[in-house]
Amino acid sequence: MDKRYRRPKGTRDIMLEEMVRWRWCEDRWREVLERYGYGEIRTPIIESTDLFVRSVGSGTDIVDKEMFTFETKGRESVTLRPEATASVVRAYLENGLTRQPGTLKFYYLGPMFRYDRPQAGRYRQFHQVGVEAIGSPSPVLDAEVIRTAMALFEAVDADEIDLQINTIGCAACRPAYVAGLRDWVCERADGFCETCRVRMEKNPLRLFDCKVVDCRRLLEQYPPINEAVCADCAAHHEKLCSTLDDMSVSYRRDPALVRGLDYYTRTTFEISTYQDKQQSALCGGGRYDDLVEQCGGPATPAVGFSLGIDRVVKHLYTDAVDLQRSRQAPVDVYMVCLGDAAQGYSLTHADRLRGVCRVEVDTSGRGVKAQMKSADSRTAKLVVIAGDEEIAGDCFQLKDLDTGHQQEVANVRLLETVREVLGS
Ligand code: HAM
Repeated sequence: MDKRYRRPKGTRDIMLEEMVRWRWCEDRWREVLERYGYGEIRTPIIESTDLFVRSVGSGTDIVDKEMFTFETKGRESVTLRPEATASVVRAYLENGLTRQPGTLKFYYLGPMFRYDRPQAGRYRQFHQVGVEAIGSPSPVLDAEVIRTAMALFEAVDADEIDLQINTIGCAACRPAYVAGLRDWVCERADGFCETCRVRMEKNPLRLFDCKVVDCRRLLEQYPPINEAVCADCAAHHEKLCSTLDDMSVSYRRDPALVRGLDYYTRTTFEISTYQDKQQSALCGGGRYDDLVEQCGGPATPAVGFSLGIDRVVKHLYTDAVDLQRSRQAPVDVYMVCLGDAAQGYSLTHADRLRGVCRVEVDTSGRGVKAQMKSADSRTAKLVVIAGDEEIAGDCFQLKDLDTGHQQEVANVRLLETVREVLGS
């Protein structure tokens, strides 16, 4: 039966030149994160469903609508991770790291899954690089984490980005604010949209996320949360702001920045681009001082962020879509093989060359012209040619594509000569 397989909706194939760009960014990010004192962590892509329900929170869009959840053959409910913070906290507890002194700093890089409505910049499988710094309540750590996020953007020369910060209070001050907000909104329910009316029951703080102009206008009449937090939260926020000022990090205070995950306390922040109006959030994070305890550990403050790699690469390279059809990986040496016997002969010697450089052996069986063209498109500096005559003579023809110079090289001198030419 003839069937064309297609990738699942909302997923992408990242390859060839686009992948080179991803790797370039990822390499820079790893470098920066290690300089800021982070060590890498890789957690499973599946976790027990309950972990996300409890940490991200029921009533959030992620848990209510966007999780890829299924039952295993052993009848456990598991979920493809929609984010990594909960997994890092689970790993921190499960691996007995709570007694480690000081702040533990993890970074991660990998795919996340959200069953969202696919659109530009919004995928069902997307990728994040992120950090979680666990163990310190200090606002100076918030400032360092935010500085780290900015450093990731600087490392890949991203421009036109904008940092917004806010405080959303803590377990001591937020419940009273949320209760007051719910009552106020309920009295004016008719003025709000359908989504807001659902949110006012389930998660009133998320009302601030609504983009509907009428809802926004109404809500502007209610004091935002940053004006209602307790003295400790206010002091924390002022210290964060003054530390950012001291580091010359520019930011904008956004009283409506409440974020879409339930675990945040005090600091929330987002980095977005004002270039692209449609999907603008490139990075988001904040403090989550209660999450470790909620997951069964001792009370442990923490702060972190995640950056959406797909969106950042798209922001950096607006031509990324065309790259899918572009060239294959570059090589240093291209081995042109004339005839079947030459393919095996070249491959045996390619192994030695691969100890010092990138080598492609052409096994296509095409004519010399076509193979030379491929050598050129793979940006090879050297072409090593073999046919029946070279096999008989235990040698190769070696052509320098920069100078056009061609010479015959005995097999015993091949490695040495390639080294000389590439080294020069
Ligand atoms: P988040 O805001 O849900 O936070 O996601 C962070 C970033 O991931 C977003 O700013 C966006 O760039 C990217 N992203 C999210 N959903 C999608 C999607 N469907 N398609 C493409 N990109 C997407 C978190 O995930 C938290 N874990 C951040 C955090 C870490 N907070 C504390 N520590």
